[in-house]
Amino acid sequence: MQMPLVLDGVAIAAEIKAEVAIEAGEMIARGVRPGLAVILVGSVAASEMYVRSKVKTCGELGLFSEMLTPPESVTTDELLRMVAELNARAEIDGILIQLPLPAHVDTKRLLEAVSPEKDVDGFHPVNVGRLQSGQPGLQPCTPAGVMEMLRRREIAVAGANAVVIGRSEIVGKPMAMLLLNASATVTVCHSRTRDLARFTREADVLVAAIGRPGFVTAEMVRPGAVLIDVGINRVTDAASVQRFFPHDAGRAAAFQKRGSVVVGDIDPAAFALSSAYTPVPGGVGALTIAMLMSNTVKAAKLRRGA
Ligand code: GUN
Repeated sequence: MQMPLVLDGVAIAAEIKAEVAIEAGEMIARGVRPGLAVILVGSVAASEMYVRSKVKTCGELGLFSEMLTPPESVTTDELLRMVAELNARAEIDGILIQLPLPAHVDTKRLLEAVSPEKDVDGFHPVNVGRLQSGQPGLQPCTPAGVMEMLRRREIAVAGANAVVIGRSEIVGKPMAMLLLNASATVTVCHSRTRDLARFTREADVLVAAIGRPGFVTAEMVRPGAVLIDVGINRVTDAASVQRFFPHDAGRAAAFQKRGSVVVGDIDPAAFALSSAYTPVPGGVGALTIAMLMSNTVKAAKLRRGA
C-alpha cells in the first residue's frame, strides 16, 4: 500500500494566510482596512491563548483588530450592549465571541445579537440557514477549513461516502452540511449511534469531532480512507502515551518534560491505513485561524460592497 498523504494544516494555513494578506493589502490600498473584534470573557487559559493567537495573526496579515476583555462577572445585558456597539461601528467587519462563555451568560441570545453580516464564526441562525440552503454566507471556520484543505489537496468528495462523528453546532452539523453541499453521501454519527464501526468502515472520508482521545481505532477504518481528525485532546497519563505512541521517542520525551501530550480523536495507528490524514497537532487545528482571517476579509468585502 502507498504511504498516506499527510494533510499539513500548517502549510495549507500559510497558503490561505498569504492569499488573505494580498486581498487585505488591496483593500487597504483603497483605504479600507478589514477589522476584527474579539470578545473574551474572564480568564480561561485556553481561550486566552486562542484569542491572543487570533489577534496576533490579524496584525501579521495587516488586519485591524480589537480585543474586548470583560470580567467573568459580566452580565448578558452588558455583553449585548457591547455587541450592539460593535455591530454599529463601521471599521469592524467581524465580531467573534470566544466560547465557551460563563454559565450565567445567555450564549444563544448573544450569538443571535451579532449582525449576520459580521458573524465571522458563522454561528448566527441566518448564516446557519444560508449554509443549509446552499446560499453564500459566512461559514464556521473549522469545518470550512476542512473543506478548503480537501479542495487544495484535490481530494474529491462528490459521490464519496462521508461519515462525520459528532453533531456539535460548531463542527459536526456544519461539517455534514458542507460535505452534503459538495455532493458527498453523508452520514452523521454521534454518542447514541448503535454499532458505530458499521458506519465508519464504509467511510471514504471520515471526520472525527467528538473530543475523545484515540476514539477511532484502526479496526474502525476502511483501508484507503481519508481521515480528518478534528480532536485536540490532552492526555496526561503514561499508559495513554504508550498506547497511542508506542514507538515515538519524541512524544515520550515531550511527555517526560511537560507531563502531557496532545492526541486527536483518531488513534494514530489508524493513520497508516489511510490514503490521506490530518496529523494532530498540525492538521485541522492549524487551519481554523486562517479561515477566521479569510472570513473577516470576506465579511469586509460583502459588507462594504468591495
Ligand atoms: N471556542 C472553541 N472553538 C471556537 C470557535 O470556533 N469559535 C469561537 N467563537 N469560540 C470557540
